[in-house]
Amino acid sequence: MLVLGIETTCDETAAAIVEDGNKILSNIIFSQAHLHKKFGGVFPELASRSHIDKILPAIDEALKAAKVSLDEIDLIAVASRPGLIGSLLIGLNTTKALSFALDKPFIGINHVEAHLYAAMMGDDKDLIFPSLGVVISGGHTMLLKILDIGKYKIIGTTIDDAMGESFDKVARILDLSYPGGPEVEKLAKKGDSSKYKFKAGNVKKNPFDFSFSGLKTKVLYTVKGQKSKKDFPTIIKNEDKKHIAASFQKCAFEDLIKKSIKAAEIHKLKAIYFGGGVTCNNSLKEMFEKQNLDLKLFWPKKDLSLDNGAMIAGLGFHKYKKVLKSDKLDVLAQPTISSF
Ligand code: KG4
Ligand code: ZN
Repeated sequence: MLVLGIETTCDETAAAIVEDGNKILSNIIFSQAHLHKKFGGVFPELASRSHIDKILPAIDEALKAAKVSLDEIDLIAVASRPGLIGSLLIGLNTTKALSFALDKPFIGINHVEAHLYAAMMGDDKDLIFPSLGVVISGGHTMLLKILDIGKYKIIGTTIDDAMGESFDKVARILDLSYPGGPEVEKLAKKGDSSKYKFKAGNVKKNPFDFSFSGLKTKVLYTVKGQKSKKDFPTIIKNEDKKHIAASFQKCAFEDLIKKSIKAAEIHKLKAIYFGGGVTCNNSLKEMFEKQNLDLKLFWPKKDLSLDNGAMIAGLGFHKYKKVLKSDKLDVLAQPTISSF
């Protein structure tokens, strides 16, 4: 089954062709990061306008690279939730138009679930369940029990900033450019992570929930002074920034690792599947690997960590196989999700 996957939830316009949920024939990603750099974060209106310009070229390139024609596509899978509403609408409406014109089925996919599926691509035959899902993206931080593809129980989530979001905010405080995650990682490599004592939040109601907003504020006050705001002048020396980046990164990751290990232990889980943009971070991978856990760790392969159409097409195959019917043309884009 050939699936065209379409992704426009945030600031990547992406299209991919995937065969039977697993074999990636093409994976085209147009990043808009350069457009949003001067705003220090995603400018939603600019994002949707750029999606309009890029969506058809992305689909054309994906078809061309996979050497397949639109007629040969069996299903269109589109990320329909969660995300920026204007951005979501471009992908979803393009999908509806294609589905209607070509008389082909389409299916709306949960972008966060697709991030988890990304780590399963390529290893479909050897999937291990029940396992722990760790989603660390710009918009979400979640621990989930994965019982099967499509069957999850949320163990913990963030009560304020997502992990990627906290990297982006700390990057701004340190005068680094957007997207902040890779910049913080780069700077942190040169720093001493024991120079500053930071602490991630503990959430009383649920010990597996996350809170990174206090940590970010502590970084802000360290860099710009007590009770400062983000546009205040920096009061520390330039060379201290690398130590702050390293200390922040270590603190956020230690919190994630501690909670992940505990969740896997308590729920007797046999593997960890990681998803979302923060999985690009090599220090995180090294810190996890150093734990020598009795758990198999599955990281998304190159080009599947950040937003992409392949993970949408791949998951779309599995979802469609269960229902064997197209979504209706009046299905809505959903900016937020309350459950899986
Ligand atoms: O999954 P993703 O592409 O988009 C969302 O679904 O949100 O993740 C983007 C996030 C951004 O916050 C970015 O700063 C973060 O992933 N990120 C990183 C790294 N590369 C990207 N965070 C830490 N270290 C990195 N190397
Ligand atoms: Zn994403």
